[in-house]
Amino acid sequence: MRMAEPASTPPPTLDTIDLYDPQRYVDSSQHGAWRLLRDQAPIWAQQTPDGSTFWSVTRYDDVTAVLLDDENYGSEHGTILAVTGGDPAGGRTINLMDRPRHTRVRQPTIPLMSMHAARRHAPRVRDRIRRIVRDRLAAGGVTDWTELTLALPMVAAGDVIGIPESAWSDVSRWAMAGVAPDDPAYATGSASATLHRAHLELFTVLNEVIRDRHRRPQDDVVSELLHLDVGGRRLDQQEVLLNCYSFVMGAVTTTPQVAAHLVLALAERPEAWHTVRARPDLVPRAVEEALRWASPTNHLLRRTLAPVRLGEVDLGPGELVAAWIGAANRDERIFTDPYRFDPARTINPHLAFGVGVHRCIGAPPAQSVLRILLAEMIGQLDGFEVAGPVVHLRSNFINGITQLPIDCRPVPARQAGVLV
Ligand code: HEM
Repeated sequence: MRMAEPASTPPPTLDTIDLYDPQRYVDSSQHGAWRLLRDQAPIWAQQTPDGSTFWSVTRYDDVTAVLLDDENYGSEHGTILAVTGGDPAGGRTINLMDRPRHTRVRQPTIPLMSMHAARRHAPRVRDRIRRIVRDRLAAGGVTDWTELTLALPMVAAGDVIGIPESAWSDVSRWAMAGVAPDDPAYATGSASATLHRAHLELFTVLNEVIRDRHRRPQDDVVSELLHLDVGGRRLDQQEVLLNCYSFVMGAVTTTPQVAAHLVLALAERPEAWHTVRARPDLVPRAVEEALRWASPTNHLLRRTLAPVRLGEVDLGPGELVAAWIGAANRDERIFTDPYRFDPARTINPHLAFGVGVHRCIGAPPAQSVLRILLAEMIGQLDGFEVAGPVVHLRSNFINGITQLPIDCRPVPARQAGVLV
């Protein structure tokens, strides 16, 4: 989605707002609509093309309230608007489980994903990123940086999950095809044929890893899932597979988008780039700002489990509520100057990783790889510009970029490597 400030686009009216239509995320921006909703209709109903009604919350406080209240707002029905009819994996995989079962799957996998673990992996991740950025520079001229950013999740978490390096590139492409099957960058036929193929390709790789870890357990997520005790029993083969799939999808569909939006934001704002270059200690803060700025999951869906009052609206059980993370992260009630990309922002309680019991378990490896990427850019790049049309992902769920032509200038040879 374009990151246009509402003031720079024609003002929407409530009757023209459509948060569902995936095409609106390709060629325009929802920031104007989100601001209008925050101000005038903080609890707002819309219908999907198949006639399901969903309620939208766009204010930071309402989004937080919904996501924190997992007793009244469940995840098992599905967490994205693309499957309002119910997700077939509901109740069987970490992100689509409610407590208490959810805790039994989540708790044992947390240590593998901690900041402590990410620090342990950091030297290897740094070597790989250094090489990737160097190769890009060596290619010279204008190159599409989405090829680079798509490599990041597996570099950060491929080993942690248990995916062999030989499969990283395919897994990343098919995971994106799985989340945006009708985007021209990933479609291999109709949306349903692409989705079917993506699942088949991913499940083939994952099943092979699962078979291998049965024989030779390693220190990774797949091995951990195989040995979980979920209330006196093990996960069955299908549940292990679905959980592996959730970890892959969680990593691949989000991390590259933060990197791509970061590169785009810095390319369009040379003053921000100069600020981080002059002060590499700002790298962690710049990454948090990129997370807020990009908000790669536009929304998270929940279904009410009981009668509940949401703002001024009484909802019965079984109602769908979309918590718009992208809108909450621009709420002027919380963020000063929210439409400004400020790499030195100090107060930044963004919700890019969600909040509550399902808050992103992969946040530490994601933050680590994004920091390493930015540090490498500072070490290796003198400057860079957007050098062609930027293309945005066709999805109401993921705020993605599928084409990012960048022309970069390397630092002069005698300075290279000073900061890395
Ligand atoms: C910048 C990168 C990332 C962003 C913005 C992000 C965002 C999110 C969000 C918003 C949620 C909450 C979902 C919900 O409440 O329904 C989530 C959950 C999750 N994420 Fe991430 N994610 C990122 C990276 C990763 C990585 C690298 C991994 C894997 C290594 C991962 C794996 C997961 C998993 C397994 C869940 C489900 C956790 C649960 O339900 O308890 N994510 N992520």
